[in-house]
Amino acid sequence: MLSNILYLVFISQAIAQSYDYNTSNVCDVGSQGKSQNQVAYMCTHQALGSCQLQQAVQTDGYSSFAEYGFGGYGNSPQASCCRCFQIQVQDSDTPAKDIIVQGINTGGDVNSNQFDLSMIAGGFGANNGCANKVFAWNGGAWDGRAGPAQYPSSAAGSWCSDPTQDNSQCQNAYSGGITKKSDCAKLPNNNLVQLCEYSFDTKWRTTNGNRDTIMKEVRCPPGLIKLSGCDKDDSSLSYPSGKLSASDPKVVKGKLTHMWDCCKPSCSWKDNVSNANDTAVMSCDASGTNILGTNTSFQCVTLTCDASCKTCSASNDASKCTSCNDGYVLLGGRCQACQSPCQNCQTDTNICTSCIKDYTLSGNTCQGTCDSTCKTCSKPLDSTQCNSCNSGFYLNGNNVGSCAQCPQFCTSCTSNSSCQSCNDGYVLLSGNCQACQSPCQNCQTDTNICTSCIKGYTLSGNTCQGTCDSTCKTCSKPLDSTQCTSCNSGFYLNGNNVGSCTQCPQNCTSCTSNSTCQSCNDGYVLLSGTCQVCQSPCQNCQTDTNICTSCIRGYTLNGNKCQAPCDSSCKNCSKPQDATQCTSCNSGFYLNGTNVGTCAQCSSNCSSCTSQNSCQACNNNTILVNGQCQSCTSPCQTCQTSVTNCLSCVSGYTLNGNTCSASNSGNCHLSCKTCSKPNDQNFCTSCPTGYLVLGGNCQPCQKPCQDCSGNPNSCTSCIANYSLSGNTCVGSNQDQTQCHSSCKTCSVQHDQNACTSCFDGFLILGNGNCQPCQPPCFNCSGNPNNCTACESGFAVQNGTCTKVLSDNKQCNSTCQTCTQANNANTCASCVSGFLLTSNNTCQACQSPCQTCSGSTTSCLSCIANYTLQDKQCVSKFAATVKTTNSGILKLALVVLIAILILLI
Ligand SMILES: *[C@@H]1O[C@H](CO)[C@@H](O)[C@H](O)[C@H]1NC(C)=O
Ligand SMILES: *[C@@H]1O[C@H](CO)[C@@H](O)[C@H](O)[C@H]1NC(C)=O
Ligand SMILES: *[C@@H]1O[C@H](CO)[C@@H](O)[C@H](O)[C@H]1NC(C)=O
Ligand SMILES: *[C@@H]1O[C@H](CO)[C@@H](O)[C@H](O)[C@H]1NC(C)=O
Ligand SMILES: *[C@@H]1O[C@H](CO)[C@@H](O)[C@H](O)[C@H]1NC(C)=O
Ligand SMILES: *[C@@H]1O[C@H](CO)[C@@H](O)[C@H](O)[C@H]1NC(C)=O
Ligand SMILES: *[C@@H]1O[C@H](CO)[C@@H](O)[C@H](O)[C@H]1NC(C)=O
Ligand SMILES: *[C@@H]1O[C@H](CO)[C@@H](O)[C@H](O)[C@H]1NC(C)=O
Repeated sequence: MLSNILYLVFISQAIAQSYDYNTSNVCDVGSQGKSQNQVAYMCTHQALGSCQLQQAVQTDGYSSFAEYGFGGYGNSPQASCCRCFQIQVQDSDTPAKDIIVQGINTGGDVNSNQFDLSMIAGGFGANNGCANKVFAWNGGAWDGRAGPAQYPSSAAGSWCSDPTQDNSQCQNAYSGGITKKSDCAKLPNNNLVQLCEYSFDTKWRTTNGNRDTIMKEVRCPPGLIKLSGCDKDDSSLSYPSGKLSASDPKVVKGKLTHMWDCCKPSCSWKDNVSNANDTAVMSCDASGTNILGTNTSFQCVTLTCDASCKTCSASNDASKCTSCNDGYVLLGGRCQACQSPCQNCQTDTNICTSCIKDYTLSGNTCQGTCDSTCKTCSKPLDSTQCNSCNSGFYLNGNNVGSCAQCPQFCTSCTSNSSCQSCNDGYVLLSGNCQACQSPCQNCQTDTNICTSCIKGYTLSGNTCQGTCDSTCKTCSKPLDSTQCTSCNSGFYLNGNNVGSCTQCPQNCTSCTSNSTCQSCNDGYVLLSGTCQVCQSPCQNCQTDTNICTSCIRGYTLNGNKCQAPCDSSCKNCSKPQDATQCTSCNSGFYLNGTNVGTCAQCSSNCSSCTSQNSCQACNNNTILVNGQCQSCTSPCQTCQTSVTNCLSCVSGYTLNGNTCSASNSGNCHLSCKTCSKPNDQNFCTSCPTGYLVLGGNCQPCQKPCQDCSGNPNSCTSCIANYSLSGNTCVGSNQDQTQCHSSCKTCSVQHDQNACTSCFDGFLILGNGNCQPCQPPCFNCSGNPNNCTACESGFAVQNGTCTKVLSDNKQCNSTCQTCTQANNANTCASCVSGFLLTSNNTCQACQSPCQTCSGSTTSCLSCIANYTLQDKQCVSKFAATVKTTNSGILKLALVVLIAILILLI
């Protein structure tokens, strides 16, 4: 098949005149002082719709969504020259495609974000080099500086011999050019007519004026660079990649206008083209042909693609396809046929996107649809090409590749005579399928070994038993009310109606006829074959309706009689429902001696008494004192021996010995935030910020932790200039300086011994280490205990931080908190590195402990160069020596063995 691409044909002719970039602009001959015979014009192939532009957009691969064009952007060469844009019109008559354009010209009236698209008869502005009368604007007046017209016979020229005239046709030609497609016919040659009509057909020219667009600067595609000759460095921009989307953040709003004045474009002057390669935009002679050299590659040709291509970039070359016909895939410029059973394919010949007949697509492969008898097959829809068979069929050895039907009732078999599995309701017996015997629905091993039953039967073991009618207990036929052999409770075998069960009389549970009951429902007694209801207050009775065996609620059985209840004040009584006949009283009541038989209430809170003044047991929360019940005194909840001797406390109080004290912060030890025991530093339940509970004590967190949890070095928040990473605090120098996290500035990166300054709260030591100031010092100088600033709540006094008491007095320097000013024997808690003793003094932790708990040698943290191991601080140096020694020992052993071997 031969496929051609037909372009609008505009073949230029080679010319033999000498031109250069400085050749005069036809619209400005006077100022250039050149001969009127040597003038340059705009190139016709730069007009919208030229075959060269159409061919280029196809070759560059954008023709599916865009076409190419040239024109002016903005009002200065710097803004316009050689920059490329993608533009999409957004109005009532939008063209089908976007347009990718390059700036080659400038318009004095072109605003920013406005593109003035070059199209034949698009309107000339201040200058006209197209037709007579040629004119040029010269600072306030048109003058005769123009050279010879490019198209002297053009009617457009006669419409507008003088643009200053108020002539609507002239105004149109001057500003917007031709406005009716039919006017294109007035242009002087057929190529110009076609290009003019193209602009109407593709809607790049409508009756709309300045058109709304969205636009985006893009990297110039090679086709536009080739047709302008101008290549600016725009490698930082992206090539177009599809139609513009208004949501693209680089897209801006713009306007589209059009023009054509035949004048040499402003970007054809080298000086106007900044940052571009040597070449400026090409200009042309009066025939519209490039004047620099005789580059005929701008000619448009009719491409005759190789038969294998759908579209191509070169004629008759099978390796220059740009797209392929259906059934082919483009591989390295060539169209290669998709491999059957692919109908269409992509990326490679066997990556299917659709399949030939009888095959179905599964992922990217085509799978044959087998004949209905085959399960798998080597050829679709062929009953003789099966590889395996569907259920109920077997591969027939006599007829290779075809599937024959298994014997009746057989679901899978290997031959006509050897079945392997059977339909439901059949059992496989020596290769044959035999029907299960009713009432088996399905069976196994034999026809009467049931695995399920037909309706009306239930499986019991491997047999199916009939379900009798609901009136029968046993039966000779299932679900048949006339085939009972015995009856359910409440029914009897009716002699008149053999085989059926009739309901016993009312209130009778078993009987032999409708007149001879044998047992009765609860609450009834059998009397001469009928059931009689028991008389209240009997609940159940025997022998007669008033001989009780149980009583209704509230009555008690006495012999065979049911007695009415006592009065509510009695526990027991000699007469029911009589408050004067009590023989004993309910809890909280006693028998009133002065009013025999009545119960009187015990005194308040007494649960058991013998008289008003002799209580024997008290209600909860009261105790017995001199025969009376007294309430425990709050905050005791329960008490014993005296109302203030607590056994438990009301909510909010804690038992301490036999007294209850408030568990709120007011009564807690000064070092605690909350506590389980008042005024005891070993019973803190939570601590102030910067401290954590350790063994009931509040211990300070280790800098640079601001707050911590678990242990003093496990930070939950950090002091200023540090940030939390996991549960350690890392210096915020990290990102910029690469110093060790403990340094603020440093002389060697990543080295904790090369700090040159430290963050607030740290002290630089002679060895280049940053050490934390000892809390409550916030800043220190010279040594970690020489405070220059304190944590909140403390004040510096002669180099130490002391707690500021509420009355402005201060604690002794070793106390962190105290109960009395300037008295080292009244510490409530100690500064870090000290331990509170039982006599309220602070004792220093023994070096190498830095902080301690319990005793001065039980370490919580260590001084520099020591590590904590099981509450002891071990020298890092000592650990190293140990390793070295063992290494020396091993070496000595090896040498010794070697000597021994040598000796042997
Ligand atoms: C412009 O310069 C670039 C980089 O040197 C080069 O690749 C490109 O071909 C040049 N374009 C022209 C039109 O000379
Ligand atoms: C069964 O007991 C109910 C309720 O006590 C009674 O109304 C009815 O008459 C009794 N039926 C017979 C047949 O005794
Ligand atoms: C008992 O059954 C017989 C026969 O159905 C019937 O004639 C008779 O009235 C029944 N007697 C009672 C007490 O229901
Ligand atoms: C006990 O009985 C006497 C005589 O009836 C009566 O006055 C007295 O109030 C009773 N005591 C109480 C606690 O009810
Ligand atoms: C008295 O205390 C007991 C045991 O604590 C408890 O089970 C009972 O509910 C309490 N009674 C009252 C009235 O509070
Ligand atoms: C303590 O700090 C002060 C103030 O910076 C300083 O003058 C003094 O020498 C320091 N003392 C010691 C022992 O480092
Ligand atoms: C400050 O401390 C130093 C050394 O401990 C001591 O000699 C001096 O008297 C103290 N000054 C005051 C005002 O307490
Ligand atoms: C600390 O307390 C001791 C003993 O009570 C006392 O001698 C000393 O002067 C106190 N020091 C300060 C700075 O208050």
